[in-house]
Amino acid sequence: MTVVTQASELTAALGNAGQPRVLVPTMGALHHGHLALIRHAKILAGAQGTVVVSIFVNPMQFDRAGDLAAYPRPREADLAACRAAGVAVVFAPEAAAMYAPDHSVTVSESQLSRNLCGAARPGHFDGVCTVVLKLFLLCSCQIAVFGEKDFQQLAVIRRMVRDLNVPVVIVAHPTVRETNGLAMSSRNARLNAAQRADAPRLRRALLAAQAAFQAGTRRPAELLTMARQAIEASGLARMDYLSLVDADSLESVEHVEGPALLATAVFYGEVRLIDHVCLVP
Ligand code: PAF
Repeated sequence: MTVVTQASELTAALGNAGQPRVLVPTMGALHHGHLALIRHAKILAGAQGTVVVSIFVNPMQFDRAGDLAAYPRPREADLAACRAAGVAVVFAPEAAAMYAPDHSVTVSESQLSRNLCGAARPGHFDGVCTVVLKLFLLCSCQIAVFGEKDFQQLAVIRRMVRDLNVPVVIVAHPTVRETNGLAMSSRNARLNAAQRADAPRLRRALLAAQAAFQAGTRRPAELLTMARQAIEASGLARMDYLSLVDADSLESVEHVEGPALLATAVFYGEVRLIDHVCLVP
């Protein structure tokens, strides 16, 4: 496995351009969810192709300095996990290698980023789009794999690829969960024992609302109240948002007539977790 920290070293490290090159963009602190993305990337790359994992805690997508500073960075463990998973190349730049001090070009998506995490974290998706496009260009990948847990991120990246004619196929991988239902996230490592024990209620609350929806409850207000009460019941989770949006436009819905998304973000202390369920009439 080759570990590259400078963009200028990537071309040599990546080797044969004729074979599929599959990128798994990450911010590190790799967990089983990332490893599932890497396994999927290996299948997509085939025996002759190359899997590249990028590990970069992108400052541009953080809206809170404390969150950026606290983001876990277990570099040696991440490299060991990539090695064990059979990754060919890890691209792990420092911020200075990614952004010139006077960088002034940003990729901005203006519709799908309006609600949910985009509203709660101003500038977040500009940071995501900008770094993802840079990673696509630097790694010259034909395919990139993203987790469905970050549903809005996936939608925004697909829109960027469509609207800018970026020649990269975006492949989504289902959310990987702990046995208790908690969606795997690098942020879970920052939960204390009580928060960790409480956090699976997010999934349970969303599933209960989904079950109510399937049983005929259609009024968004009723579904939202039910989910909110279940999430806040222990008093440990502080709601950032809970929204019911159209699954394509990500706009709030008054009546659920097509596929919708019940999505939430909550804070446990300073740790922000997200999850969602799909509601299909
Ligand atoms: O999902 C993430 O880990 C990040 O948002 C990504 C896609 C690696 C961009 O920094």
